[in-house]
Amino acid sequence: MPRDVHSHARPEEARVTHLGLALEVDFTHQVLRGTATLDLDVTAGAHRVVLDARRLDIRSITDEAGQPLSFALSAEDPILGSALVVELPAGCRRVVIAYATTPGADALQWLNPEQTAGGVHPFVFTQGQPIFARTWIPIQDSPGVRFTYHARITAPAPLTALMSAERVPRSADESPGVFHFRMNEPIPAYLVALVVGDIAMRELGPRTAVFAEPSVVERAAHELVDVERMVDAAEVLVGPYRWGRFDVVIMPPAFPYGGMENPRLVFASPTLIAGDRSLVTVFAHELAHAWAGNLVINATWNDFWLNEGTTVYLELRINEVLWGEDRAAMLKDWGYRELTGVVAQMGATSPDTRLHHDLTGRDPAEGVTVVPYLKGAAFFWTLERVVGRARLDAWLRGWFDRQGFRSVTTETFLHDVRQHLLGGADAGAIDLERWLFAPGLPSEAEPPRSVLLTRVDEVARAWSAGTRARSLEVTGWTPQQWRHFLALVHARVPSLAAVEDLDEAFALSSSGNAEVLAPWLRIEAMVQREAAVPRLERFLVGNGRLKYLRPIYAELLASDWGRPIAKRVYATARARYHALARGSLDRLFAAQGAAAPSVS
Ligand code: BES
Ligand code: ZN
Repeated sequence: MPRDVHSHARPEEARVTHLGLALEVDFTHQVLRGTATLDLDVTAGAHRVVLDARRLDIRSITDEAGQPLSFALSAEDPILGSALVVELPAGCRRVVIAYATTPGADALQWLNPEQTAGGVHPFVFTQGQPIFARTWIPIQDSPGVRFTYHARITAPAPLTALMSAERVPRSADESPGVFHFRMNEPIPAYLVALVVGDIAMRELGPRTAVFAEPSVVERAAHELVDVERMVDAAEVLVGPYRWGRFDVVIMPPAFPYGGMENPRLVFASPTLIAGDRSLVTVFAHELAHAWAGNLVINATWNDFWLNEGTTVYLELRINEVLWGEDRAAMLKDWGYRELTGVVAQMGATSPDTRLHHDLTGRDPAEGVTVVPYLKGAAFFWTLERVVGRARLDAWLRGWFDRQGFRSVTTETFLHDVRQHLLGGADAGAIDLERWLFAPGLPSEAEPPRSVLLTRVDEVARAWSAGTRARSLEVTGWTPQQWRHFLALVHARVPSLAAVEDLDEAFALSSSGNAEVLAPWLRIEAMVQREAAVPRLERFLVGNGRLKYLRPIYAELLASDWGRPIAKRVYATARARYHALARGSLDRLFAAQGAAAPSVS
């Protein structure tokens, strides 16, 4: 196992094999309080275990019998947090850590009732990836360290707690505020996840269900009718689904991502519940992580492309089965265009365009760009072209069998591909080393254009040539086609009058689909449309999904007109965003020379 530069842990000395959590959820003080019991595999001769911890209030550490153990918490590294070193007397294989989280816990987002759909009860959720788990659990927070877990969570009535684990019924003498969970498959710390709120459930299929606030759950169930079929389709492609259930929980709008692949229970943004099932492809993505990411996991964040690239490839294969070739080809075409745009922007020699990354000394969140996702997928699309689908599929199934429940590096991947896929006559057909380790985009990555986006290209050309909006042929366009059209409009730097003309014809500013509304608001910000300011503000304050927030703020920050708006809105909205969205937006404000407001 390579050294994980984003963890203090020394698993070669003593490794966590099981976590037992007992936590009480205290909404009044916005802390979790209780114990973490760690079972350890201790190497002969080792007498300490090194854990990750960040801004945790460690109260005591004892062995199984309650005997205090000595421990030391190192000074906080700005990226990694602290090392928590616990001395292990001879024979000690279990440590019990009594602790509480603090308001500095970046994994946790505490929502006031008014940030929920119901408006009555508070809500809290965790986001572990990439290195936030250490802010709510003292643990070896490295994707290379996998362990099983069980948990007992106590929450105030009438709230429900859910975790990325099997739900275990409470015993007859326990109060309704107690929830038990068990995860019997080894997972890394970043996949331990908790959500607590006023949450209802609707079944979708024999092994699928959706959870959401009561006022959202019906709409969510309607949107997600096809999720069970997705699981079936994925199994045909890559073999058995090994996590039992595939449930989904729809979060309040503050959730910073589209989706997060927590095992057995995907966390998802409410922006995906668009009303027309147009964005359910994101669930295919999170489902694909059940293999690429949760079964076979990147051993370090430098290998992140293995999680996301393989997942995007599988996501589109699942989407093709469910929605047909045209829609899958459209998504692939869009992906390639995004990728080539971003690589051009970063520069084809930029080290950040490499699949295997080196994030030493940097926050691993900085590695979360389009590159691991789409250059990763482009690599698989190229492989598919070289060896054919049948062989690639057989290799993928073999890969998940051979490496299942392991954490793997890019080197292991390369070795496996050479041994099991490209060993023979076609060994020279694709330059594996270049794809995996060099910057830029190999030239063989050019995709065929999709029919659906090409049609949009034509309409955009007509619009550029002066055709009035109402004469454009847009009948039956999907949100993805609109999104593409709006990207082309944005690139043309339109006039205010042209933007008003588009809005009059297509009512884009009242779109209920965030994939359309967010790029539209960015265009309005670009042309400095006064009438858009209230809806820009509403969107930025009401949504926490970073993918939408960042481009709009960046656009506002780029002009003298927009900068004061960006600063004013961010000053109120910042406290409503998840720590990782705050981190990314703070960096954006700093880079634009507009110091982020210091309010927390
Ligand atoms: N695992 C990621 C989200 C993530 C990545 C969180 C890195 C923290 C650090 C998740 O699977 C994801 O990629 N979500 C995407 C959706 C997708 C369809 C590209 C998102 O949220 O936009
Ligand atoms: Zn993903």
